[in-house]
Amino acid sequence: MTKSKLGLLAGGPSCIAHRSKLPTKLRNKQQTELKVRNAQLDDYLGIRKIINSKNNRNSFGFLPKVVVDDAVKHQNAEGEKSQHRIRVVEDTDGRIVAFLRAYHRQDGATTLHEIGVAEDMQSSGIGSFLLTELISASRKRGMKKVGLKTPVGMRSNGYYPRFGFKQVGTYTGRKRVLNCYELTLQLGA
Ligand SMILES: CC(C)(COP(=O)(O)OP(=O)(O)OC[C@H]1O[C@@H](n2cnc3c(N)ncnc32)[C@H](O)[C@@H]1OP(=O)(O)O)[C@@H](O)C(=O)NCCC(=O)NCCS
Repeated sequence: MTKSKLGLLAGGPSCIAHRSKLPTKLRNKQQTELKVRNAQLDDYLGIRKIINSKNNRNSFGFLPKVVVDDAVKHQNAEGEKSQHRIRVVEDTDGRIVAFLRAYHRQDGATTLHEIGVAEDMQSSGIGSFLLTELISASRKRGMKKVGLKTPVGMRSNGYYPRFGFKQVGTYTGRKRVLNCYELTLQLGA
């Protein structure tokens, strides 16, 4: 069975994307050395740069510092047991090039709040790595599903189904309509 750059199992049983390692080569063929780690309190500015960049801005809601700090503090204090998950990817210069924030709810559903990759690093597999990592971590702690919302009409709507997410409805927010996606996690899968 052959694999595409994103780990799509061509002709495989489910054709579900996954990426278990960070890319070492970017889309523009540049070599890179990236590192993933739990976010720390001084990462907020790097995260905000990703969110506020020209082409990314429209995909995100407002993410206040207090929300990021709260997630970081809980994750640092509680480790693996923490319901908060906030991960960042950094390059060799210490620049934050991607992040993911999620929450493992008591009812067995993991909510993916945001996933973002710096514009010049997109389409190189970094987002797929962070999403694969979240799905694996959710499965490991016995979560039943992963859910997320993304604005109607955005390119990201084509992204999540590659990982097995199915649209389960829409949600009318204050400013726009969002599509709701869920990935059901089968135990042991
Ligand atoms: C969506 C996103 C997280 C994917 O991460 P990534 O590392 O760029 O993507 P990967 O390399 O893992 O996968 C490539 C796929 O990502 C999607 N993608 C790439 N750039 C994207 C962008 N600017 N916006 C939305 N989706 C994008 C496409 O489906 C792409 O597939 P294609 O190359 O066949 O078109 C990232 O592109 C991003 O941060 N986009 C802007 C913000 C956003 O849409 N966030 C999600 C909503 S909260």
